[in-house]
Amino acid sequence: MNLTVKTLSGLETLLEQELKDLGAKNIESISRGFTCSGDEELMYKINYQSRFSVKVLQELYSFSFKTKEDYLEQIKKYEWDFFIKPEESIAVDAVVFGCDLFDNSLYTAQLTKDGMVDFFRNRYGLRPSVRTNFPELRVSVFISGYNCTVYADTSGSSLHKRGYRKSFHAAPVNEVLAAGLVALSGWKFDCDFYDPMCGSGTIVIEAAMAAMNIPAGYFREDFGFKRWQNFKPRILKRVKDSADAEIKEFDHKIIGSDYSDQVIRSAWKNIFSAGLKHDVQLLRHNVFTTEIPKGSMVVFNPPYDERLSLNDATGFYKKLGDTIKNNMRGCKVWMLVGNPDLWKSVGLKTSAKIPLFNGNIESRFLGYESYEGTKKFNKAENYQNKSGGDNHDSKEHKDYKFRNDRPDRKRFPEGKNKKL
Ligand SMILES: C[S@@+](CC[C@H](N)C(=O)[O-])C[C@H]1O[C@@H](n2cnc3c(N)ncnc32)[C@H](O)[C@@H]1O
Repeated sequence: MNLTVKTLSGLETLLEQELKDLGAKNIESISRGFTCSGDEELMYKINYQSRFSVKVLQELYSFSFKTKEDYLEQIKKYEWDFFIKPEESIAVDAVVFGCDLFDNSLYTAQLTKDGMVDFFRNRYGLRPSVRTNFPELRVSVFISGYNCTVYADTSGSSLHKRGYRKSFHAAPVNEVLAAGLVALSGWKFDCDFYDPMCGSGTIVIEAAMAAMNIPAGYFREDFGFKRWQNFKPRILKRVKDSADAEIKEFDHKIIGSDYSDQVIRSAWKNIFSAGLKHDVQLLRHNVFTTEIPKGSMVVFNPPYDERLSLNDATGFYKKLGDTIKNNMRGCKVWMLVGNPDLWKSVGLKTSAKIPLFNGNIESRFLGYESYEGTKKFNKAENYQNKSGGDNHDSKEHKDYKFRNDRPDRKRFPEGKNKKL
């Protein structure tokens, strides 16, 4: 089968390597993604294991048309009952370029839906309903000029919905983007990982999942292909068993901190839901007064005034620059920033500047090498005793516990948190 795999802008190289590793053939680049070929097992694998994909579409067929009637006939011809029963539901998305017959994609989607409904009516005397949320079959049509390609959406909802997020806070980063930040930082899982503005914990969770080889879809129950008539549970089980057998322990620390009690609570819920309560430590600290152990990989996305307002954004970023220089010595530091004026305020020389999008905000992922000076730093173990004066929230948090010990974590292979 031919597949089209989509990602976020800036993560293409990561996705290409991932597709190769998963065994995809004939990989070719398209805008924000790749086409490739393989069997059903590959399609299941990409959906279950890929950290950098947002959608996997299966190409069904292509045709040319001259009139709208012609278009409708071509849609009616396809054997849609290969995927669903007439009493089930459908949804259609359309993208149209350069075709005077279809000047809007809503109308195109409507016409495509009519063709599919006609197919079922003619064959069964029954028609599927239309449901935008969780339909049994979601179809995408792509029209360029008078040529149309029809796809079935194998993923269902976007693959950034990993299934572990139980709590949101103001501006969480997309899970696929967070996985991308971890990978683009070049972290080789050979040192501690630190997010000093962890918000709801997305970056530390994705870091832990990558370090421990936990498949991206481990906590996700729903995939579009599971609702189809031709779904093969046996193949999915094989894919899951083989990927899950690669889950391993991780011996360095993964630490998230934030100055807000409320936000830390939200992160804790997500970390707990991802089964990572023994693997990720959470601390409440102000980034400006936190000393991060030398040799750590530091990855974070500070507020940048678009989604979370800052009183003095320029001053805030200048202070962050000073903090990287003074409190993150001997660390590799990466920061996702969405406002060009603010990048400059950091005032440090970047070792890398990678263009990315955070939602629709054009951003830069900025890398800094913070050199080790003469100053000695406390280790993470001592942080919890020093948080007193720096706290954003005045009340002591009581709802969660910091952990610095590392108890036996061999629980994944036994499937304690497993959902099949
Ligand atoms: C853009 S959000 C991070 C989102 C996070 N990556 C996620 O996925 O949820 C920025 C975070 O920085 C935190 N923050 C702002 N100023 C801080 C400070 N001085 N020290 C520590 N955390 C701070 C905010 O509480 C907020 O949670």
